[in-house]
Amino acid sequence: HSEVSKVRNLSCIILGEHIIEPWYFSSYPIELTEEDEIYICDFTLSYFGSKKQFERFRSKCSMKHPPGNEIYRDSKVSFWEIDGRKQRTWCRNLCLLSKLFLDHKTLYYDVDPFLFYVMTIKSDQGHHVVGYFSKEKESGDGYNVACILTLPCYQKMGFGKLLIQFSYMLSNVENKVGSPEKPLSDLGLLSYRAFWTDTLVKLLVERNNPTLYRKNNPLPDEDTSPPPTSNSSEITIEEISALTCMTTTDILHTLTTLQILRYYKGQHIIVITDQIMAIYEKLVKKVKEKKKHELDPRKLKWTPPS
Ligand code: COA
Ligand code: NA
Repeated sequence: HSEVSKVRNLSCIILGEHIIEPWYFSSYPIELTEEDEIYICDFTLSYFGSKKQFERFRSKCSMKHPPGNEIYRDSKVSFWEIDGRKQRTWCRNLCLLSKLFLDHKTLYYDVDPFLFYVMTIKSDQGHHVVGYFSKEKESGDGYNVACILTLPCYQKMGFGKLLIQFSYMLSNVENKVGSPEKPLSDLGLLSYRAFWTDTLVKLLVERNNPTLYRKNNPLPDEDTSPPPTSNSSEITIEEISALTCMTTTDILHTLTTLQILRYYKGQHIIVITDQIMAIYEKLVKKVKEKKKHELDPRKLKWTPPS
């Protein structure tokens, strides 16, 4: 592909009920770039140069959710697993749409090597795409996410963290650690740092406190598994990695940023500071006040594709 840097070529897209201003170039057909606005069906992701064409299409279109299998559903969101090879057109349309908001990633026309995990929210009309991440079927580098995107009309509402949480839930089922593909965008890095902080703070504060664990992770009656307790207040980076599926690099980076990793008598120790307790209390409060949604790993119905 061309190395020439390309400038934004669309001024406005109408996606379902949302009006969105693109950020970057994307290779939509050249005819469409001459339109003031283009119309995108938020179920099929097909694109149209005029409202008339779009409405004609919609009147015949019966699709009400992404293709592929629904592998997760809770009260707020669903996740769909879509094979790039089996749903080539849909996945190419998704890549075209997401390129409008991604500057640095190579645009994948070749969607075959990827699986796409698409998050939707439900309305009377159907399941609408909110965001997604792609994942290589075989990642030699141990990446569990290739591209990740929340559509701009849904950004800064916590959906990015749900996408990230979901990517680690899959890694957990695969018994693997994972990390997002580099380089990350500025927004990508901000979101991952925030997610990693939440995850580590919650784990470190709750692991030696079964009462807190019970309170914040209510289990259904039939689940009698004990909370993860330990008599030792020490935990190794490898143990944290096994529990979170985060890489040791990402863990060390986050602990360093949080300034809770201390070097003491020849080894690293983690100190729970007042600042960490404050972050923890804030987090718990947000969940309690329903300002923060969290996915429930028990609602994942998935086996790794072979
Ligand atoms: N400014 C400051 N902080 C931001 C931010 C912004 N514009 N967007 C996200 N954050 C921070 C939030 O503070 C939040 O942390 P908090 O909950 O502790 O406050 C955290 O990042 C996650 O926010 P969230 O609302 O869950 O993320 P999102 O739904 O907005 O999605 C991206 C995050 C990265 C997926 C989204 O910004 C995006 O799609 N960007 C364009 C594509 C991209 O760059 N992808 C990553 C590279 S592949
Ligand atoms: Na596991």
